[in-house]
Amino acid sequence: MIPIWRKGQMSFEQLICKAADVIKGTKKLVAFSGAGMSAESGIPTFRDPGGLWDRFDPEEIGTGPGLLNALMRIPDKIRALINETLTTFAAAKPNPGHHALFTLETMGILRSVITQNVDNLHGEAGNTRVIEVHGNLYRYRCLSCGRKNTFPRTEIFAHVRKALDSITHFNLTSVMSLLPQCSCGGRMRPDVVMFGEAVQSLPEAFKEAESCEVMLVLGTSGVVFPAAALPERAKSAGATVIEINPGLSSYRSISDLHIQSKTGEALPLIVQRIQHA
Ligand code: OAD
Repeated sequence: MIPIWRKGQMSFEQLICKAADVIKGTKKLVAFSGAGMSAESGIPTFRDPGGLWDRFDPEEIGTGPGLLNALMRIPDKIRALINETLTTFAAAKPNPGHHALFTLETMGILRSVITQNVDNLHGEAGNTRVIEVHGNLYRYRCLSCGRKNTFPRTEIFAHVRKALDSITHFNLTSVMSLLPQCSCGGRMRPDVVMFGEAVQSLPEAFKEAESCEVMLVLGTSGVVFPAAALPERAKSAGATVIEINPGLSSYRSISDLHIQSKTGEALPLIVQRIQHA
């Protein structure tokens, strides 16, 4: 594969201009985002220092059985983690990167966002076509009847916070009170994908990847499959791949353009450039 321009020879400003030039000429732009996209909203990534998988073994709490086991072995750590997660997510708001993607949609350029994030921030920024391959933290699924229900985030935070504060002995039984009740009487769990569970909306995500002209790969390390295969799929179907990531990822070799920057910094600059071209 021959890159459409030579990497490593452009200044930051030139990279922004080049990305803007490529993006403004298409109506088939798809964004693929990961945890780095929400880092500037205050939500830590998974694998950077201090992230969830830097502090815990994914086997330990990233699977259903692992989490149940951890609740019995290290209940205090799990309680502290839930507390911390509640505080972090309750404070999180879309950042300039999310807002820039919404602007690209309103300009008729961005067709969809495929995200691995469960934080709902693309939707909150206003994007209307968001494919959430790892689920959504505010959508719950009944463990008995399978019904799904999306709750307003304030309602969920208030429910979980109240239930958590009222638990004196944090264990497998008491933790069930954190889960809202379905109208059928069953308990509902967050409709997010844990390791070993099926990824959501995958055929739709691959269809978007295969039919886009330009894919923005934003703040993802690209190590969790099958979602991680989406940029390669876009690339092999002929798309130009533009990556924005200040750190490491597995996409360096397939990206036509790599902007070593935070998404909250680079995306607004690209949008400004398109608007004033
Ligand atoms: P990772 O934590 O693996 O990767 C985060 C990426 O974001 C890294 O490449 C960082 O360099 C980059 N990054 C950090 N700050 C950034 C910023 N301000 N702007 C742009 N990029 C930044 O997170 P994901 O790739 O999303 O899966 O992880 C993929 C999946 O692994 C997650 O969806 C989750 C996790 O286990 C499930 O929960 C199933």
